[in-house]
Amino acid sequence: MLDLSSKATGIAPSQTLAIDTRAKALKEEGKDVVGFGVGEPDFDTPQYIREAGKRAIDEGKTRYTPVPGTLTLRKKIAEKFLKENGLSYKPSEILVSSGAKQSIFTALAAIVNDGDEVLIPSPYWVSYPEMVRMVGGVPVFVPTRQEDDFRVTAEAVRALATERTKALILNSPSNPNGCVLPGGTLRELAQVAVEKRFYVISDEIYEKLVYDGEKHVSIASFGDEIKAQTVVINGASKAYAMTGWRIGYAAGPANVIKAMSAYQSHAASNACSISQYATEAALSGGEEELSKMVAAFDARRKLIHKLVNDAPRLSAFLPKGAFYIMVDLRGVLGKRHRGVAVESAEAFAELLLDEEFVAVVPGEAFGAPGFIRLSYATSEERIREGIRRMAAFVGKMES
Ligand SMILES: Cc1ncc(COP(=O)(O)O)c(C=O)c1O
Repeated sequence: MLDLSSKATGIAPSQTLAIDTRAKALKEEGKDVVGFGVGEPDFDTPQYIREAGKRAIDEGKTRYTPVPGTLTLRKKIAEKFLKENGLSYKPSEILVSSGAKQSIFTALAAIVNDGDEVLIPSPYWVSYPEMVRMVGGVPVFVPTRQEDDFRVTAEAVRALATERTKALILNSPSNPNGCVLPGGTLRELAQVAVEKRFYVISDEIYEKLVYDGEKHVSIASFGDEIKAQTVVINGASKAYAMTGWRIGYAAGPANVIKAMSAYQSHAASNACSISQYATEAALSGGEEELSKMVAAFDARRKLIHKLVNDAPRLSAFLPKGAFYIMVDLRGVLGKRHRGVAVESAEAFAELLLDEEFVAVVPGEAFGAPGFIRLSYATSEERIREGIRRMAAFVGKMES
């Protein structure tokens, strides 16, 4: 067998998708699996968006589009930024990609040199550190604590910024912990970024999924200086239940978007033409569908938070956004299951899947050992069943 590249062999495959694969295999064996693993809305893409996709096919809009996306879609995205985020971008400052994941990767590829440091608040979305490594950068983790609602602070960022710091990745609302950063914190973070001269990649993919009257604010909206250093990431996957359509987008300074576009022109050309037309429709309406989805997530969020905190030895922080909850296992780890001590969230997650058929993601995957992440993008009935099984499993563990 010939060698693979050291870059490729150094990459850890996505643990979220690994759990999902194992859960799917058990389902195929006929097991009644409760899936809290993968992060996608369980709603169907709204009808008006599906119709727009079908229309695009029937009208033959099935050819290559410009690399950065159709002009009409980029204009629609520019309108969205102005209306919802108070940000003014020209179409030349916007790039459409095959999912927000590709947008983030391409942004990193455009700005990170070998050895550059990229600050990542921890716990983090699984893909950030691997993406940074894939482009030759060095991830530097900025710790946050459950006791502080997982909010990253400007002081913590300042303390870790060096002359090699090229960027900070922000994700508010956050996957995995549902933290929504308040405007004051974002303003302070913007000041540090401007003062220390590093980019901010602001992943705002969960912007529409906020609860308890929280309001999403984009860090780029705190003035021209920070806007000129920020690449805002967003997309259709989470807000419009369009995960499979693969549309994400980035907005930022023209030179960064141009470099990203050049990179994408060789790596992927354009995002799927049909999906681009469907996203144009998505951005043109559907507030009613969205608010129904948000209301359902909100009810599930409250339910899962209560059930987890009612369960023996488990506790969880009430998330303010997205559709994930982090469960604190610190009251469980070290206890024994069938005589064997369960020492890590990973071991806990494996046992829970194999014995109770409940799929969760262990915290090691996102820099939070001692925690598991549950996605509550599933029905209230499945949430009740899954947490019932988890509570029973934990209740049986011996000291
Ligand atoms: C924080 C975060 N950013 C980006 C993405 C990727 O979104 P997309 O499906 O548009 O690539 C996800 C998906 O899980 C996510 O959780």
